[in-house]
Amino acid sequence: MNKISDIVYLNGCYVPISEAKISVLDRGFMFADSVYEVIPVYGGALFRQNQHIDRLLYSLHEIHITPPYDAPAWLNLCAKVIEKNAFNNGHLYIQLTRGSPPSRSHTFNSDLQPTILIMCQSVDTPDLASLDNEMGISAITTNDIRWHRCDIKSTALLPNVLIRQQAKDKNAAEAIMIKDGLVTEGAASNVFIIKGNKLLTPPKSNHVLGGTTRDLVLELASTQKLTSKTAKIPLLTLETADEIWVTSSTMGIIPVVSLNDKLVGDGKPGPFWRKIAQCYANYRQNIIEDSKC
Ligand code: PDD
Repeated sequence: MNKISDIVYLNGCYVPISEAKISVLDRGFMFADSVYEVIPVYGGALFRQNQHIDRLLYSLHEIHITPPYDAPAWLNLCAKVIEKNAFNNGHLYIQLTRGSPPSRSHTFNSDLQPTILIMCQSVDTPDLASLDNEMGISAITTNDIRWHRCDIKSTALLPNVLIRQQAKDKNAAEAIMIKDGLVTEGAASNVFIIKGNKLLTPPKSNHVLGGTTRDLVLELASTQKLTSKTAKIPLLTLETADEIWVTSSTMGIIPVVSLNDKLVGDGKPGPFWRKIAQCYANYRQNIIEDSKC
């Protein structure tokens, strides 16, 4: 079972999770008027912290919330939550809503105090990105039914919830979404394919979240002289890919070995995945070693 840490940060206070309460009028609850971040923690250290905080500040900017803290102050708060829980491995969750007004109204005043929650969650599920994972995962394709601002990491995740559940109901671990015949992303991940020795991923746009793991995969590919390109990926190209990977902060880089009940390549994690997953594991290990110094 994944477990939330005992102490959470809520609106300036460090409190036990059982005492962390917000108003029913909170706009996060009423309207999903709220953004979030999920930052991996390895050996007590935040992974790719600057990239996550930059994206949080971007999301806030795009929904017209003035950031209550700058990047160093956010990182200080995150470090305190980790320290207070002696937290080691899992991820840190940050959510910021527009706040709790005195009544329900679609429109908002800019003087509202945002509601800020930071908590840690340990992950007991097996390490899916492990190189020993010879299995890979199954995925389905489905229509992308989301709005046109998927670049904002909003908590309005109902389409993603329904789509991920659709995958689960078909015994698949992820759903890859298709918009106008083109791959956008997974329900909670970005998508890569290997086609003719090239690594391809859809370009960042308002239909795709700018994934931090996605950016790292592109960085790692360039160190390995693996040619990578951001390109539109039609459904047929996905269906005939040599390898398919999905990436996220919580899963790492995961090979998809079956798509819509058909084998991807020979139905085993491919050699390109193995190479980049090894680089990713080394990169992660270095962070853990550095955090011990
Ligand atoms: N989600 N696209 C979507 C729609 C996502 O929800 C996520 C991650 C990603 C990958 O982004 P990153 O590599 O920065 O984690 C792409 C997180 C993990 C979540 O909602 O729990």
